This record gives sequence, C-alpha cells and structure tokens, in this order.
Amino acid sequence: MIELNKIYNENCLETMSKMPSNFVDMVLTSPPYDDLRNYEGYQFDFQPIAKELFRIVKDNGIVIWVVGDKTENGTETGTSFKQALYFKEIGFNLHDTMLYYKNNPMPTTGKRYHQHFEYMFAFSKGSPKTFNPLTESTKYRGLANMKNRGKNGSLEYEKVARTTEKKIGNVFFYSIGGGISTKDKIAYQHPAIFPEQLAYDQIYTWTNEKELVYDPFMGSGTTAKIAQEMSRKWLGSEISKEYVKIAEERLKLLINSKSFYQ
Ligand SMILES: C[S@@+](CC[C@H](N)C(=O)[O-])C[C@H]1O[C@@H](n2cnc3c(N)ncnc32)[C@H](O)[C@@H]1O
Repeated sequence: MIELNKIYNENCLETMSKMPSNFVDMVLTSPPYDDLRNYEGYQFDFQPIAKELFRIVKDNGIVIWVVGDKTENGTETGTSFKQALYFKEIGFNLHDTMLYYKNNPMPTTGKRYHQHFEYMFAFSKGSPKTFNPLTESTKYRGLANMKNRGKNGSLEYEKVARTTEKKIGNVFFYSIGGGISTKDKIAYQHPAIFPEQLAYDQIYTWTNEKELVYDPFMGSGTTAKIAQEMSRKWLGSEISKEYVKIAEERLKLLINSKSFYQ
C-alpha cells in the first residue's frame, strides 16, 4: 500500500502505478506546460499521465488542471485546449473551465494584451461528489417581505437592508509574486509556483476533511502544504530532487509555525 502524506521523488507515472484504481478524491496540479520553464529533469508524457489520472481518481472525484499556453512563431500553441479535449475523450467531463486571473502579471510587449490568466480546468469523473462553493455577500436595499399591521389596520412595509450570500464566479483573482503567493521565501527558488490561496480555494471547494488530494507535479510543495493545513490527506510526485528538498523544507516550516489558515 502506498504511503500517504509523502512526496515521491520520481516520475508521476511511477507513483500512480503504485495506486489502486478509484483512490484519490481530488487532483490539484499545474503541469509543466509547453517548455516555458526549464524545470530540472523535465519529462512530461501527457497522454499516459491523463489516462492514469482517470484510473486513480475516484468516481465523482475531480482534477483541477492549471495550465496556460506558450506563444511561438506568432501563435499560441493551444496545448491547453488539446489537453482539455483529450481529458474529455478518455472519459472525464469538462466540468468547468475556470480561470486563474493574475492581478499583476509580468507585462508583455508587442501587439498582444498583457497575459493575465491561466486556465483552471475542472475535469470530473461523473458529477462531482463534493461542492463547497466560495461565496461573497450581496447587499441590496429594498422592500423586505415583512408585513406589519399598522395602527389603523393597514399593511406596512419596512425598508430594510438585506444581506445574502451568493456563490462567486468561476474566475478567481489573485495577486502574485514575492511575499504574496506565499510567505515561504524558499519556495521562490522554484520558477513556477501557484499561490497558496489558489490551492486553498480549490481544495476547499472540492473536498472535505480527511479526503485525499494528489499533486503529480508537486514543484515547491504548495498543494502538500495547504492540504496539510486543511486536514486533508495528500500525496505528491516531483521528478526533481532539488524541488522535493524545497517542498520538504516548506513542510518543516509549517510544522514549526502556527498555521496561516487557522
Ligand atoms: C508548474 S511546476 C508545479 C509547481 C507547483 N504547483 C508549485 O506551486 O510549486 C511543474 C513541476 O512538474 C515537475 N515535473 C515535470 N515532469 C514531471 C513528471 N513526469 N513527474 C513528476 N514531476 C514532474 C517539474 O520538475 C516541475 O517542478
């Protein structure tokens, strides 16, 4: 049986080969996309990985795939779309095409607008079993449905402020960069971390406590750290030894400090 709460320093295909079918509740990951970053030990065999993900995710479980495209020879590659369609082909539902909107992206030059977003594709194996939506409050004024009898017997309406909660939209907004994505300085030794808040929001939405979250491309350990803080079980794979060291350092920092999210 595979050991939980551990990052395996190996190709994710190897880690998944140790897992039984229908094993993890949620996959949260950002794969190495195109060859934008020079990861150490870069290897990415997309189609077999997608098929293995389908096997190891539980029925009604979910995969959150955070990805963007490179622009080369005057065109965006479209890799993220191709991957999304392939996930559909092998049996996943394309449950929701969500966006990770960066409030402060790296500025770009040329005849394109600044690249502000990446996709956060939500692929589900059937209908998602858990959905804890993030909400925001709506405050509006109006005639409440409160009817009182006035002194002369007439109906009186009272004008009151009402506050309700509604689920947010599928574009999640984050500020990114040094000291913002995470307070762990060591994490920035990795070239492509996603914000801790993104991991928190996704894990919160699709899982409950004690459920299992897997990140096949663990990088600096963001998914592991936040899953641990949120009392989820977790598992990871990361091919680079250097990045596994960073992730393990972050987990040690977590154990030695008071949790940010409590
Ligand atoms: C975009 S980064 C993930 C960053 C991560 N979300 C974070 O917040 O730190 C992708 C990672 O996948 C790793 N990687 C590439 N191919 C892999 C493979 N086949 N198996 C496991 N890890 C791999 C790279 O070394 C890189 O660290």
